Amino acid sequence: LRLFSGSANVPLSQEVARYLGMDLGPMIRKRFADGEIYIQIQESIRGCDVYLIQPSCQPVNDHLMELLIMVDACRRASARQITAVIPYYGYARADRKTAGRESITAKLVANLITQAGANRVLAMDLHSAQIQGYFDIPFDHVYGSPVLLDYLISKKLPDLVVVSPDVGGVARARAFAKKLNDAPLAIIDKRRQAHNVAEVLNVIGDVRGKTAVLVDDMIDTGGTIAEGARLLRQEGARQVYACATHAVFSPPAVERLSSGVFEEVIVTNTIPIPESKRFPQLVVLSVA
Ligand code: R5P
Repeated sequence: LRLFSGSANVPLSQEVARYLGMDLGPMIRKRFADGEIYIQIQESIRGCDVYLIQPSCQPVNDHLMELLIMVDACRRASARQITAVIPYYGYARADRKTAGRESITAKLVANLITQAGANRVLAMDLHSAQIQGYFDIPFDHVYGSPVLLDYLISKKLPDLVVVSPDVGGVARARAFAKKLNDAPLAIIDKRRQAHNVAEVLNVIGDVRGKTAVLVDDMIDTGGTIAEGARLLRQEGARQVYACATHAVFSPPAVERLSSGVFEEVIVTNTIPIPESKRFPQLVVLSVA
């Protein structure tokens, strides 16, 4: 078994390697003057079972291309099996056509990864689970929820209500609620009018006087979760926690999340979070 890291989240890869009691494999990665990426595996991997860790976080296109080049390099080096470990699968929200003449980019990405030579994929908390079916190779879909739930349970929060920030996230929130002593569930009825702009309308369920835990797969600009929190406060929630596997944190997420509306914003390290994006209410848990 050999483990290699792309450049997207080296600390997570190092943690995984430590956990497995092995070193990350040696690999040269550089850029030519024109921006093209060069990869060379620095040891023989002939006949090996190779794992390549690379979330496709920002800059998503560079990190995706780097992964494809790593897979291609391993295939041409006669690895026996290549597993693309993609803690955060970029373009997952482009999983269907919502208007004419759009791309289904999540499927295009699946084609590219398969075509490059991956034999197996492991990804965490896909935006929609159906993306597994975009691949004709084995796919392990794993979750950040055990880590997030352990933390929430350890806090012994009183009068919990688990809240899905949109209708699409109800199954995820229900699974959380079940593990939190069958806590009640509430749903925010949201209408999105444009990309990256969330409009919150209505809370379905009772949140008055309760500790609300908003659960989502990702926080990108923070619009969905911050609007949700504001609405929950307005509806009488006593405290609001946010919980998500992927901290995408595009601007202006940090401003929105640190505005004081949340007791805590609990995320995992599928995507690295630089110091400049950290704020006092942020809790980062490891999925290594
Ligand atoms: C949407 O369906 C997703 O589950 C997230 O709620 C959304 O992508 C988060 O984006 P933002 O933080 O920009 O509102």
